Amino acid sequence: MSVARLGSMDRRGFLENLGRLSLGAAAAAGFSAGVASSQPAVEKAWEPVSDRKVRVGIVGYGVCQFGAAFGFQDHPNVEIVAVSDLIAERRAGLMQACRCDKSYESLEVLVRDPKIEAVFVATDAPNHAKHCIEVLRHGKHVMTAVPAVWGSIEQAEQLLETVRKTGLKYMMAETSCYRADCHAMRHIYRAGGFGKLVYSEGEYFHFSPTPIPSFNGWRIGAPPLWYPTHSTAYYVGVTGGRFTCVSCGGFDAGLPANKPGANQYNNPYSDEIALFQTSEGGASRMLMCKGVQGVIVETGRVYGQRGWMQDTSYHGLMKDLPDITPPPLPPGMPAGGHGGSHGPLTNEFITAILEDREPLVNVYEALAMTVPGIVAHQSAIKEGQTLAIPQYDRA
Ligand SMILES: NC(=O)c1ccc[n+]([C@@H]2O[C@H](COP(=O)([O-])OP(=O)(O)OC[C@H]3O[C@@H](n4cnc5c(N)ncnc54)[C@H](O)[C@@H]3O)[C@@H](O)[C@H]2O)c1
Repeated sequence: MSVARLGSMDRRGFLENLGRLSLGAAAAAGFSAGVASSQPAVEKAWEPVSDRKVRVGIVGYGVCQFGAAFGFQDHPNVEIVAVSDLIAERRAGLMQACRCDKSYESLEVLVRDPKIEAVFVATDAPNHAKHCIEVLRHGKHVMTAVPAVWGSIEQAEQLLETVRKTGLKYMMAETSCYRADCHAMRHIYRAGGFGKLVYSEGEYFHFSPTPIPSFNGWRIGAPPLWYPTHSTAYYVGVTGGRFTCVSCGGFDAGLPANKPGANQYNNPYSDEIALFQTSEGGASRMLMCKGVQGVIVETGRVYGQRGWMQDTSYHGLMKDLPDITPPPLPPGMPAGGHGGSHGPLTNEFITAILEDREPLVNVYEALAMTVPGIVAHQSAIKEGQTLAIPQYDRA
């Protein structure tokens, strides 16, 4: 797993770093050889499940330019009908990047286009829940950038209710879920190679001495574990299990954005480290840290009754590992950034629509990765008091 070091975090540096993180895709190649030494490394071919094109709208071309980063424009089962960003220059950039000649001035206008049947919401985090609800209420499927909701249990419940009521597809594009290590852990877990997990760890370190730019400044001084999903994916995205309660510690590394009055969240912490109890009876340490000098990495490890795994190596009792090669993509569709996860996430969402099935990170998994971080921050504010985590299971 690549660890990038940044001295300061301006927009350019951040984007360059996203590129470097995507070198995880290169690690993926070495990974399958390392883990599955009993298997020949066979390239799987992508097989279309339909020749239909899903008619997609894309919204959001902010500092990460995420609207165009997930390869919708290169998927053979996608027609991009229209794009949107509130800022005209960004809207034009997104049209060009998606090779699309139609745009709307906002998501709220785009969702009224009857031709569009699915929307990728790549807007600012505080608006994800509101925007996804708006899309669903207009009868369209939705894939959202992380996190599913922003610091609000109420938003989580409204989102869940809307997904249940509409019966449409909802997917959260958590990139860790398709990193080579997490993908392999999930398949080995399902095949019994770990047994129950005794312990797991996930971490998202993103040293940010000055906040990364963001729409209306949502990133400035934000509670670290309101953005938990890159970490929590290393339990929920591996096992499908749940966090039941949490005790969390907060740390103030002295960043200007966390001084009194410096942020809209009244949040003093740059770093949060949470210990969760899991539904399997194990424990899980998940963190998000912005104050640790120079480190930027997203990774995790799992430790079970029958084996354990980190990075590229499975160590355990299972002799014949299941197929853990990365999912195949349509010819010409790049795997993309964040460890080659962007392409597989898009392919999963589109295929779930075509096959009329639940996507990998449906609303239940999305909330199970997101809500525990909100409760963890509450625990940190209460000096580590153990708090129960609401459970959102299929009704
Ligand atoms: N690894 C990952 O999964 C990963 C990495 C980076 C960012 N992200 C997520 O991607 C999302 C986008 O990140 P960013 O840094 O580009 O955000 P940003 O804050 O820089 O930009 C958000 C964009 O959304 C647009 N927008 C907001 N409301 C809109 C509306 N109603 N209609 C049309 N456009 C609207 C804004 O104009 C802005 O350009 C964030 O939610 C972030 O959490 C995920």
